[in-house]
Amino acid sequence: MSDFKTIETRVLHVDSVEPDADAIRQAAETLRSGRLVAFPTETVYGLGANALDAEAIKHIYAAKRRPATDPVIAHIHHAEQLSQLAIDLPENVAALASAFWPGALTLVLKRAPGVPSNIATGRETVAVRMPSHPVARALLDAANLPVAAPSANTFTRPSATTAAHVLEDLNGRVDIVLDAGPTPIGLESTVLDLTGESPVVLRPGGVLLDDLRRVLPDVTLSPRYVATNTESGESAPGQMLKHYSPDATVLLFSGPVDAILAQMRATAGERSAQGQRVGVLIAEEDRIAFDGLPDVVALGPRDDFAAVGQGLFAALRTLDQAGVDTILVRDFGREGLGAALWDRLLRAAEGRVIRVE
Ligand code: TXA
Ligand code: MG
Repeated sequence: MSDFKTIETRVLHVDSVEPDADAIRQAAETLRSGRLVAFPTETVYGLGANALDAEAIKHIYAAKRRPATDPVIAHIHHAEQLSQLAIDLPENVAALASAFWPGALTLVLKRAPGVPSNIATGRETVAVRMPSHPVARALLDAANLPVAAPSANTFTRPSATTAAHVLEDLNGRVDIVLDAGPTPIGLESTVLDLTGESPVVLRPGGVLLDDLRRVLPDVTLSPRYVATNTESGESAPGQMLKHYSPDATVLLFSGPVDAILAQMRATAGERSAQGQRVGVLIAEEDRIAFDGLPDVVALGPRDDFAAVGQGLFAALRTLDQAGVDTILVRDFGREGLGAALWDRLLRAAEGRVIRVE
């Protein structure tokens, strides 16, 4: 599909708990005919296509302007659909599915014959997740297909957590957008690779490492942050450091809270004096330290990682739209959902961490 620009994108508003059956039916038919539908999940919006149709999957890569080196997650409605996608399931899959599905856990498994290899960019694996969002579930049920869906943003942009974000990046490149308001978690799923000797989390996300450990005591967290080169072929999928990036330069401040706030304030002052427009991403409690600066976004209370995570991608986009040159953001901690937050912040900052004592 070279001339995506000619597609007329239709936005269908649906209730986030009881989605309108007619809208779901239209979206399901669009998927069944090999076309693209953006839909909300509990994590972020996904850009969906029939996971069993190689041509439809190609449209995803083209629409996202994503290099065909980064594989896509297949979404399912019920556990029986797993056998359409994956073979040689390890024993622990049943326990993981019963503990975390539907939910924000993606399992990397051995790909079944017949599943298009471009869903996994040629790898012999496939990533599978059963989302819990009622709109995603209704769509998967009506389509009666596994649905391949990466996050519904242009490659390297912050993931879309509202339908407006989807349109910002993909208007004219997707057939239907199901708009059910902001997504509740706001950070993507946890990606767990079960194809190696021992289970490894490739991307921390909505399901917490501590919760996974209850089912899989030997699970380890191993996101390797590698160079930004998307073509290097050496990096494991999804591990390019440049990811979730706004246009502005992001600087991530880490260290004791009082020290990082003082350093952020000093840096904001210096850069403003140089004529830059500086955005700041902080916690509610930090506001007082940035009085008078125009582009300050408080994501939520300091220790409320759920609130901070929910608003992060939207805030990065808001500051971009305000036209800031630099975004200063604080480290919120790495415990619990903090692991996913830190991962997204580090990638948004492309590794630019300023450590303050
Ligand atoms: O929450 C989410 O996971 C969202 C919603 C829409 O479900 N999807 C999402 O997809 O974030 P995407 O494509 O933006 O990220 C998928 C992640 C990437 O890090 C990708 O590299 C990894 O999953 N992944 C997908 N298939 C894989 C595979 N076969 N082996 C290893 N990693 C895989
Ligand atoms: Mg993504």
